[in-house]
Amino acid sequence: MKTVIEPFKIKVIEQIKFTTPEEREKILRDAHFNLFQVAAENVIIDLLTDSGTSAMSTEQWAGMIRGDESYAGARSFYSFEKTLREITGMPHIFPTHQGRASERILFTLVGGKDKFIPSNNHFDTTRANIEYTGAQAIDLVIDEAYQTDNLYPFKGNLDIEKLEHFVKEVGAQNIPLCMVTITNNSIGGQPVSLSNLKGIKRVCQQYNIPFFIDACRFAENAYLIQQREKEYSHLSVREIARRIFDLADGALISAKKDGLVNIGGVLLLRDKKLAEQATNLLILTEGFTTYGGLAGRDLEAMAQGFVEVLDENYLCYRLRSIEYLAEQLIKANLPIIQPSGGHAVYIDAKAFCPHIPSQQYPGQSIVCALYRLAGIRATELGRVMFGKRKDNSKSETLYQAPYMELVRLAIPRRVYTQSHMDYLIEALVEIFKNRDKLRGLEIVEEPVMLRHFTAKFRELN
Ligand code: F0G
Repeated sequence: MKTVIEPFKIKVIEQIKFTTPEEREKILRDAHFNLFQVAAENVIIDLLTDSGTSAMSTEQWAGMIRGDESYAGARSFYSFEKTLREITGMPHIFPTHQGRASERILFTLVGGKDKFIPSNNHFDTTRANIEYTGAQAIDLVIDEAYQTDNLYPFKGNLDIEKLEHFVKEVGAQNIPLCMVTITNNSIGGQPVSLSNLKGIKRVCQQYNIPFFIDACRFAENAYLIQQREKEYSHLSVREIARRIFDLADGALISAKKDGLVNIGGVLLLRDKKLAEQATNLLILTEGFTTYGGLAGRDLEAMAQGFVEVLDENYLCYRLRSIEYLAEQLIKANLPIIQPSGGHAVYIDAKAFCPHIPSQQYPGQSIVCALYRLAGIRATELGRVMFGKRKDNSKSETLYQAPYMELVRLAIPRRVYTQSHMDYLIEALVEIFKNRDKLRGLEIVEEPVMLRHFTAKFRELN
């Protein structure tokens, strides 16, 4: 059979509340055109993030009941540790409450003034945690990443030449570690090839720099390697995942993505001394090493989630549903990042509404239109997110350059069906047909940091 179906049946459902266009207009205005300020119950389809929004399986829920809530040495920790060791082979495995907690522990230990941490692209919390220590987060993704319709299959790759050049420029002694984000969430959820990962490792080894992976979406990346990198198509996704982790000296995982859970994270380390230091910090700020800021039941859910995410029937359905959404949008000539990546479809907002200049936030305009028309919530990944304004001055500076004006449609795992996607496609096509009517916005109030969460906007005429 050619048709790819959801490899699960639905046992529990959550009712969606429908709103009218008039109600949504009022909600949008009350939220000052910032979708982070809209109550989730007023959203019909929520594509704000794929993080912590997965539906859990019967086996995960059963694990929740089995959870051992002992303070130290809980059975649930050992099943979590065993699963993560089987997948990654890492000797030191710490649970944390989510990805950014792993980031904070790692960069507190290795960061600091005059240090540099290169990556393909750092996710915003990773960048913030690096910069908070005084170190600099450097993006070295290949140039193809910024070309929306370039069909290169691994647009998440780190540019090896840029890396070598960078190491020579700043000196290996100032680079406590080199990272790579798989898949690359900042630009298109694009995968990184295994040969690129090997290339990064080679440079790291040559200069004696530890190599770390931000592995939030490692299973989706491993599946895309199996599908797109001929040399490795004979391997199972689990084998590919193991080859990825075998290259690394450590990894950070937000289990809220490929851990298929609503909360949880992991810090993986190979080095014994660094692991000892991490143990101390973990106990100081997260909790004892066998629960790391989580309940025993959360560890059970993670252990089971990491097994289920490597099921190739699941990954086939998951990546095919993203590809289906992308195909339908391309058919209607909507400008999106191609080829489709792992967890989301990204709209090129500049190409979608060229009449709205960057300074008037074209991505935010699309996000508002999508809510107005269909009650769908998406995220702007452009100037709103990457810009900041000092002391309410008129001019904006950028956290990250270059950047693209994107709208991310992040798809929660195992939550929505194909008809939800069809509803989304219908809405986007309709907005695209009438794109001339979209208006820009201005920011009327913003905080000093991470403005996208709380900024207030006004629509321009
Ligand atoms: N690294 C990447 C690549 C991420 O996408 C995220 C989170 C984190 C680290 C931090 O993990 O949220 O568990 O602390 N991304 C979410 C998103 C928030 O919407 O893309 P966390």
